[in-house]
Amino acid sequence: MTAISKLHVRAVRNIGDISILPNSGFNLLHGSNGSGKTSILESIHVLASGKSFRSNKLDLLVQHGANETLVFAELASGHKFGFSKSAKTVPQLKLDGDSVKNWESIARLLPLLVLDSSTFQLADGGPQVRRSFLDWGVFHVEPGFLANWRNVKRCIAQRNLLLKSRASDTSQISAWDEEFGHCAEYVDESRKKYVSLFSPIFNEIYTRLAPLIAENLSLSYSRGWDESKRLSDVLVENQNIDFKYGATQAGPHRAELIYRFGKDKATDVLSRGQLKVLVIAMKLAQGKLLNSLSNQCCTFLVDDLAAELDSANRIAVLALLHSMGGQVFATAVDRLDVESCLPDGVSQATFHVERGIIKA
Ligand SMILES: Nc1ncnc2c1ncn2[C@@H]1O[C@H](COP(=O)(O)OP(=O)(O)OP(=O)(O)O)[C@@H](O)[C@H]1O
Ligand SMILES: [Mg+2]
Repeated sequence: MTAISKLHVRAVRNIGDISILPNSGFNLLHGSNGSGKTSILESIHVLASGKSFRSNKLDLLVQHGANETLVFAELASGHKFGFSKSAKTVPQLKLDGDSVKNWESIARLLPLLVLDSSTFQLADGGPQVRRSFLDWGVFHVEPGFLANWRNVKRCIAQRNLLLKSRASDTSQISAWDEEFGHCAEYVDESRKKYVSLFSPIFNEIYTRLAPLIAENLSLSYSRGWDESKRLSDVLVENQNIDFKYGATQAGPHRAELIYRFGKDKATDVLSRGQLKVLVIAMKLAQGKLLNSLSNQCCTFLVDDLAAELDSANRIAVLALLHSMGGQVFATAVDRLDVESCLPDGVSQATFHVERGIIKA
Protein backbone atom coordinates (compact mmCIF):
# COMPACT_ATOMS: atom_id res chain seq x y z
CA MET A 1 0.00 0.00 0.00
CA THR A 2 3.05 2.30 0.12
CA ALA A 3 3.23 2.41 -3.69
CA ILE A 4 2.88 5.78 -5.40
CA SER A 5 -0.25 5.64 -7.56
CA LYS A 6 -0.08 9.23 -8.90
CA LEU A 7 2.90 11.50 -9.44
CA HIS A 8 2.86 15.10 -10.58
CA VAL A 9 6.11 17.06 -11.10
CA ARG A 10 6.25 20.69 -12.19
CA ALA A 11 9.29 22.91 -12.84
CA VAL A 12 11.90 20.58 -11.33
CA ARG A 13 15.15 21.05 -13.30
CA ASN A 14 14.19 20.48 -16.96
CA ILE A 15 10.86 18.78 -16.13
CA GLY A 16 8.11 21.16 -17.29
CA ASP A 17 4.88 19.62 -16.10
CA ILE A 18 4.34 15.86 -16.02
CA SER A 19 1.69 13.62 -14.48
CA ILE A 20 2.08 9.86 -14.44
CA LEU A 21 0.20 6.90 -13.01
CA PRO A 22 3.03 4.58 -11.92
CA ASN A 23 2.74 0.83 -11.76
CA SER A 24 2.74 -0.56 -8.21
CA GLY A 25 5.59 -2.87 -9.31
CA PHE A 26 8.26 -1.86 -11.80
CA ASN A 27 8.53 1.52 -13.57
CA LEU A 28 11.10 2.13 -16.25
CA LEU A 29 11.98 5.72 -17.22
CA HIS A 30 14.06 5.73 -20.38
CA GLY A 31 15.37 8.45 -22.65
CA SER A 32 18.53 10.08 -23.90
CA ASN A 33 21.17 11.79 -21.77
CA GLY A 34 19.89 14.99 -20.17
CA SER A 35 16.24 14.15 -20.90
CA GLY A 36 15.15 14.39 -17.24
CA LYS A 37 15.05 10.78 -15.96
CA THR A 38 17.14 11.35 -12.84
CA SER A 39 15.23 14.58 -12.17
CA ILE A 40 12.04 12.53 -11.84
CA LEU A 41 13.70 10.19 -9.32
CA GLU A 42 15.10 13.24 -7.55
CA SER A 43 11.60 14.76 -7.34
CA ILE A 44 10.26 11.64 -5.62
CA HIS A 45 13.21 11.63 -3.24
CA VAL A 46 12.85 15.28 -2.30
CA LEU A 47 9.14 14.84 -1.72
CA ALA A 48 9.67 11.86 0.58
CA SER A 49 12.75 12.99 2.48
CA GLY A 50 13.37 16.71 1.97
CA LYS A 51 16.74 15.91 0.44
CA SER A 52 18.10 15.44 -3.03
CA PHE A 53 20.47 12.53 -3.57
CA ARG A 54 22.68 14.51 -5.95
CA SER A 55 23.02 17.94 -4.41
CA ASN A 56 22.44 19.45 -1.00
CA LYS A 57 21.28 22.70 -2.59
CA LEU A 58 17.51 22.42 -3.01
CA ASP A 59 17.44 25.81 -4.76
CA LEU A 60 19.08 24.16 -7.78
CA LEU A 61 15.97 22.06 -8.30
CA VAL A 62 13.81 25.05 -9.20
CA GLN A 63 13.63 25.29 -12.97
CA HIS A 64 15.49 28.26 -14.46
CA GLY A 65 12.95 31.01 -15.03
CA ALA A 66 10.19 29.34 -12.98
CA ASN A 67 8.80 30.79 -9.76
CA GLU A 68 8.14 27.56 -8.00
CA THR A 69 8.86 23.85 -8.07
CA LEU A 70 6.01 21.50 -7.20
CA VAL A 71 5.92 17.75 -6.57
CA PHE A 72 2.76 15.91 -5.60
CA ALA A 73 2.18 12.21 -5.00
CA GLU A 74 -0.71 10.06 -3.94
CA LEU A 75 -0.15 6.64 -2.43
CA ALA A 76 -2.26 3.55 -3.03
CA SER A 77 -3.19 3.85 0.66
CA GLY A 78 -4.83 7.22 -0.14
CA HIS A 79 -2.26 9.47 1.58
CA LYS A 80 -1.37 12.61 -0.40
CA PHE A 81 1.87 14.57 -0.13
CA GLY A 82 2.83 17.86 -1.71
CA PHE A 83 6.12 19.72 -1.80
CA SER A 84 6.67 23.20 -3.17
CA LYS A 85 9.69 25.45 -3.19
CA SER A 86 10.69 28.74 -4.73
CA ALA A 87 14.30 29.80 -5.05
CA LYS A 88 15.63 31.08 -1.72
CA THR A 89 12.50 30.23 0.31
CA VAL A 90 12.06 27.33 2.69
CA PRO A 91 10.17 24.34 1.27
CA GLN A 92 6.46 24.04 1.98
CA LEU A 93 5.23 20.56 2.74
CA LYS A 94 1.73 19.17 2.95
CA LEU A 95 0.44 15.80 4.11
CA ASP A 96 -3.22 14.99 3.43
CA GLY A 97 -4.02 18.68 3.00
CA ASP A 98 -2.34 19.90 6.19
CA SER A 99 0.94 21.80 6.36
CA VAL A 100 3.65 19.82 8.13
CA LYS A 101 6.91 21.22 9.46
CA ASN A 102 9.24 18.32 8.74
CA TRP A 103 9.51 15.12 6.77
CA GLU A 104 9.34 12.64 9.61
CA SER A 105 5.78 11.44 9.05
CA ILE A 106 6.16 11.40 5.25
CA ALA A 107 9.45 9.50 5.46
CA ARG A 108 7.70 6.90 7.60
CA LEU A 109 4.84 6.54 5.10
CA LEU A 110 7.09 6.31 2.06
CA PRO A 111 10.44 4.67 2.89
CA LEU A 112 12.78 5.19 -0.06
CA LEU A 113 16.13 3.71 -0.94
CA VAL A 114 18.34 4.90 -3.79
CA LEU A 115 20.73 2.83 -5.89
CA ASP A 116 22.88 5.16 -7.97
CA SER A 117 26.51 6.10 -8.49
CA SER A 118 26.63 7.84 -5.08
CA THR A 119 25.71 4.55 -3.36
CA PHE A 120 29.40 3.73 -3.77
CA GLN A 121 30.16 6.27 -1.02
CA LEU A 122 29.04 3.56 1.38
CA ALA A 123 32.35 1.89 0.54
CA ASP A 124 34.73 4.77 -0.11
CA GLY A 125 33.12 7.58 1.90
CA GLY A 126 33.82 8.41 5.54
CA PRO A 127 32.17 6.75 8.55
CA GLN A 128 29.44 9.41 8.48
CA VAL A 129 28.01 7.86 5.29
CA ARG A 130 27.74 4.43 6.90
CA ARG A 131 26.27 5.89 10.11
CA SER A 132 23.58 7.60 8.04
CA PHE A 133 22.87 4.30 6.30
CA LEU A 134 22.57 2.53 9.64
CA ASP A 135 20.42 5.28 11.15
CA TRP A 136 18.03 5.27 8.19
CA GLY A 137 17.30 1.62 8.99
CA VAL A 138 17.02 2.13 12.75
CA PHE A 139 14.76 5.20 12.29
CA HIS A 140 12.25 3.10 10.35
CA VAL A 141 12.02 0.26 12.85
CA GLU A 142 12.68 1.88 16.26
CA PRO A 143 10.15 4.64 17.06
CA GLY A 144 12.20 6.21 19.88
CA PHE A 145 15.44 6.38 17.94
CA LEU A 146 15.11 9.80 16.32
CA ALA A 147 14.33 11.68 19.55
CA ASN A 148 17.28 10.03 21.32
CA TRP A 149 19.67 10.65 18.44
CA ARG A 150 18.64 14.32 18.30
CA ASN A 151 19.26 14.55 22.02
CA VAL A 152 22.70 12.99 21.59
CA LYS A 153 23.55 15.67 19.04
CA ARG A 154 22.22 18.42 21.32
CA CYS A 155 24.30 17.16 24.26
CA ILE A 156 27.43 16.94 22.12
CA ALA A 157 26.90 20.47 20.76
CA GLN A 158 26.47 21.90 24.30
CA ARG A 159 29.42 19.93 25.63
CA ASN A 160 31.64 21.06 22.76
CA LEU A 161 30.74 24.71 23.35
CA LEU A 162 31.88 24.36 26.95
CA LEU A 163 35.03 22.49 25.92
CA LYS A 164 35.91 25.19 23.37
CA SER A 165 35.30 27.97 25.87
CA ARG A 166 37.70 26.10 28.21
CA ALA A 167 35.12 26.28 31.00
CA SER A 168 37.06 26.18 34.25
CA ASP A 169 34.09 24.75 36.09
CA THR A 170 34.05 21.14 34.85
CA SER A 171 30.78 20.51 36.70
CA GLN A 172 29.04 22.31 33.83
CA ILE A 173 30.40 19.70 31.42
CA SER A 174 29.62 16.86 33.79
CA ALA A 175 26.04 18.14 33.98
CA TRP A 176 25.58 17.18 30.31
CA ASP A 177 27.28 13.81 30.68
CA GLU A 178 24.44 12.00 32.43
CA GLU A 179 21.84 12.85 29.78
CA PHE A 180 24.38 12.28 27.01
CA GLY A 181 25.27 8.85 28.42
CA HIS A 182 21.63 7.88 28.77
CA CYS A 183 20.62 8.77 25.16
CA ALA A 184 23.88 7.42 23.76
CA GLU A 185 23.30 4.00 25.33
CA TYR A 186 19.82 3.94 23.78
CA VAL A 187 21.17 4.88 20.34
CA ASP A 188 23.89 2.25 20.62
CA GLU A 189 21.50 -0.49 21.76
CA SER A 190 19.12 0.30 18.87
CA ARG A 191 21.96 0.29 16.35
CA LYS A 192 23.38 -2.97 17.74
CA LYS A 193 20.01 -4.68 17.56
CA TYR A 194 19.55 -3.45 14.00
CA VAL A 195 22.97 -4.73 12.90
CA SER A 196 22.24 -8.16 14.40
CA LEU A 197 19.04 -8.37 12.33
CA PHE A 198 20.59 -6.84 9.23
CA SER A 199 23.66 -9.08 9.07
CA PRO A 200 22.02 -12.44 8.22
CA ILE A 201 19.77 -10.80 5.60
CA PHE A 202 22.77 -9.10 4.03
CA ASN A 203 24.66 -12.44 4.01
CA GLU A 204 21.77 -14.19 2.29
CA ILE A 205 21.51 -11.50 -0.41
CA TYR A 206 25.24 -11.11 -0.91
CA THR A 207 25.65 -14.87 -1.17
CA ARG A 208 23.23 -14.81 -4.10
CA LEU A 209 25.15 -11.98 -5.78
CA ALA A 210 28.76 -12.92 -4.99
CA PRO A 211 28.96 -16.38 -3.37
CA LEU A 212 32.75 -16.72 -3.45
CA ILE A 213 33.34 -13.40 -1.71
CA ALA A 214 30.41 -13.69 0.67
CA GLU A 215 31.87 -16.67 2.50
CA ASN A 216 34.88 -14.62 3.61
CA LEU A 217 33.05 -11.41 4.35
CA SER A 218 32.14 -10.24 7.84
CA LEU A 219 30.52 -7.11 9.21
CA SER A 220 31.48 -5.48 12.44
CA TYR A 221 29.91 -2.55 14.24
CA SER A 222 31.92 -0.41 16.57
CA ARG A 223 29.86 1.85 18.77
CA GLY A 224 32.23 4.81 19.19
CA TRP A 225 33.58 4.10 22.66
CA ASP A 226 35.16 1.22 24.57
CA GLU A 227 32.79 -1.77 24.56
CA SER A 228 33.72 -2.68 28.11
CA LYS A 229 32.96 0.72 29.65
CA ARG A 230 30.00 2.99 30.27
CA LEU A 231 30.11 6.16 28.21
CA SER A 232 29.77 8.34 31.30
CA ASP A 233 33.00 6.79 32.68
CA VAL A 234 34.81 7.21 29.36
CA LEU A 235 33.79 10.89 29.26
CA VAL A 236 35.35 11.49 32.67
CA GLU A 237 38.53 9.60 31.70
CA ASN A 238 38.77 11.52 28.39
CA GLN A 239 38.13 14.99 29.73
CA ASN A 240 41.70 16.21 29.18
CA ILE A 241 41.74 14.93 25.59
CA ASP A 242 38.32 16.48 24.95
CA PHE A 243 39.63 19.83 26.25
CA LYS A 244 42.71 19.53 24.04
CA TYR A 245 40.61 19.06 20.88
CA GLY A 246 37.73 21.24 22.02
CA ALA A 247 35.38 18.43 21.01
CA THR A 248 33.87 15.26 22.47
CA GLN A 249 35.93 12.33 21.21
CA ALA A 250 33.88 9.34 22.37
CA GLY A 251 30.23 8.61 21.71
CA PRO A 252 27.76 7.31 19.14
CA HIS A 253 28.78 10.10 16.73
CA ARG A 254 31.96 8.04 16.27
CA ALA A 255 30.23 4.73 15.49
CA GLU A 256 31.38 2.81 12.42
CA LEU A 257 30.35 -0.16 10.28
CA ILE A 258 33.25 -2.10 8.80
CA TYR A 259 33.20 -4.91 6.26
CA ARG A 260 36.20 -7.25 6.33
CA PHE A 261 37.27 -9.74 3.72
CA GLY A 262 39.17 -12.25 5.84
CA LYS A 263 41.29 -10.03 8.07
CA ASP A 264 41.49 -7.06 5.72
CA LYS A 265 39.11 -4.19 5.24
CA ALA A 266 36.94 -5.05 2.22
CA THR A 267 37.74 -1.63 0.71
CA ASP A 268 41.45 -2.51 0.71
CA VAL A 269 41.14 -5.76 -1.23
CA LEU A 270 37.94 -5.95 -3.29
CA SER A 271 37.73 -4.55 -6.81
CA ARG A 272 35.60 -1.50 -7.53
CA GLY A 273 32.99 -3.69 -9.24
CA GLN A 274 32.94 -6.12 -6.32
CA LEU A 275 32.49 -3.23 -3.90
CA LYS A 276 29.65 -1.90 -6.03
CA VAL A 277 27.83 -5.20 -5.67
CA LEU A 278 28.55 -5.16 -1.95
CA VAL A 279 27.02 -1.72 -1.38
CA ILE A 280 24.02 -2.60 -3.53
CA ALA A 281 23.54 -5.74 -1.42
CA MET A 282 23.61 -3.52 1.69
CA LYS A 283 20.75 -1.39 0.31
CA LEU A 284 18.75 -4.42 -0.79
CA ALA A 285 19.20 -6.01 2.63
CA GLN A 286 18.02 -2.82 4.28
CA GLY A 287 14.86 -2.84 2.15
CA LYS A 288 14.22 -6.49 2.88
CA LEU A 289 14.71 -6.04 6.62
CA LEU A 290 12.28 -3.13 6.64
CA ASN A 291 9.71 -5.31 4.84
CA SER A 292 10.06 -8.09 7.37
CA LEU A 293 10.04 -5.89 10.50
CA SER A 294 7.37 -3.39 9.59
CA ASN A 295 5.32 -5.15 6.97
CA GLN A 296 6.00 -2.07 4.86
CA CYS A 297 7.48 -2.28 1.38
CA CYS A 298 10.33 0.01 0.56
CA THR A 299 10.30 1.97 -2.71
CA PHE A 300 13.58 1.75 -4.66
CA LEU A 301 14.88 4.52 -6.93
CA VAL A 302 17.42 2.89 -9.24
CA ASP A 303 19.36 5.33 -11.36
CA ASP A 304 21.16 4.08 -14.46
CA LEU A 305 21.72 0.47 -13.37
CA ALA A 306 23.37 -0.34 -16.71
CA ALA A 307 26.14 2.16 -15.99
CA GLU A 308 26.75 0.53 -12.61
CA LEU A 309 26.47 -3.22 -13.23
CA ASP A 310 27.17 -5.83 -15.89
CA SER A 311 24.19 -7.77 -17.25
CA ALA A 312 24.65 -10.81 -14.96
CA ASN A 313 24.55 -8.57 -11.89
CA ARG A 314 21.66 -6.56 -13.34
CA ILE A 315 19.64 -9.76 -13.74
CA ALA A 316 20.40 -10.80 -10.15
CA VAL A 317 19.66 -7.36 -8.65
CA LEU A 318 16.40 -6.93 -10.58
CA ALA A 319 15.28 -10.42 -9.49
CA LEU A 320 15.98 -9.52 -5.85
CA LEU A 321 14.12 -6.22 -6.18
CA HIS A 322 11.16 -8.04 -7.73
CA SER A 323 11.14 -10.66 -4.95
CA MET A 324 10.71 -7.90 -2.35
CA GLY A 325 7.38 -6.89 -3.84
CA GLY A 326 7.88 -3.12 -3.48
CA GLN A 327 7.65 -0.39 -6.08
CA VAL A 328 10.70 0.34 -8.23
CA PHE A 329 11.49 3.39 -10.38
CA ALA A 330 14.48 2.64 -12.62
CA THR A 331 16.14 4.76 -15.31
CA ALA A 332 18.02 3.74 -18.44
CA VAL A 333 19.25 5.42 -21.59
CA ASP A 334 18.52 2.26 -23.55
CA ARG A 335 15.37 0.55 -22.29
CA LEU A 336 16.60 -2.87 -23.43
CA ASP A 337 19.52 -2.70 -20.96
CA VAL A 338 16.93 -3.09 -18.20
CA GLU A 339 14.02 -4.83 -19.93
CA SER A 340 16.24 -7.67 -21.13
CA CYS A 341 17.29 -8.30 -17.50
CA LEU A 342 13.85 -8.26 -15.85
CA PRO A 343 12.47 -11.53 -14.51
CA ASP A 344 9.47 -13.04 -16.29
CA GLY A 345 6.04 -11.87 -15.23
CA VAL A 346 7.07 -8.48 -13.81
CA SER A 347 4.23 -6.00 -13.67
CA GLN A 348 5.70 -3.03 -15.53
CA ALA A 349 5.02 0.49 -16.81
CA THR A 350 7.36 2.25 -19.22
CA PHE A 351 7.75 6.01 -19.59
CA HIS A 352 9.73 7.60 -22.39
CA VAL A 353 11.27 10.86 -21.14
CA GLU A 354 12.47 13.42 -23.68
CA ARG A 355 13.38 17.07 -23.04
CA GLY A 356 11.54 17.17 -19.74
CA ILE A 357 8.25 15.66 -20.90
CA ILE A 358 6.82 12.15 -21.08
CA LYS A 359 6.42 11.17 -24.70
CA ALA A 360 3.28 9.26 -25.60
N1 LIG B 1 17.37 24.26 -12.44
C1 LIG B 1 17.36 23.77 -13.69
N2 LIG B 1 16.52 24.31 -14.63
C2 LIG B 1 16.47 23.80 -15.87
N3 LIG B 1 17.20 22.75 -16.30
C3 LIG B 1 18.05 22.19 -15.41
C4 LIG B 1 18.18 22.66 -14.07
N4 LIG B 1 19.07 21.89 -13.40
C5 LIG B 1 19.50 20.97 -14.30
N5 LIG B 1 18.89 21.13 -15.49
C6 LIG B 1 19.01 20.31 -16.72
O1 LIG B 1 18.07 19.28 -16.60
C7 LIG B 1 18.43 18.21 -17.49
C8 LIG B 1 17.99 16.90 -16.90
O2 LIG B 1 18.99 16.26 -16.19
P1 LIG B 1 18.84 14.77 -15.68
O3 LIG B 1 20.04 14.54 -14.86
O4 LIG B 1 17.52 14.55 -15.07
O5 LIG B 1 18.91 13.94 -17.04
P2 LIG B 1 18.98 12.37 -17.26
O6 LIG B 1 17.87 12.01 -18.20
O7 LIG B 1 19.04 11.66 -15.98
O8 LIG B 1 20.34 12.23 -18.05
P3 LIG B 1 21.52 11.12 -18.03
O9 LIG B 1 21.05 9.98 -18.90
O10 LIG B 1 22.67 11.83 -18.63
O11 LIG B 1 21.74 10.73 -16.61
C9 LIG B 1 19.88 18.41 -17.81
O12 LIG B 1 19.97 18.81 -19.17
C10 LIG B 1 20.30 19.57 -16.91
O13 LIG B 1 21.25 20.40 -17.49
MG1 LIG C 1 20.53 10.56 -15.10
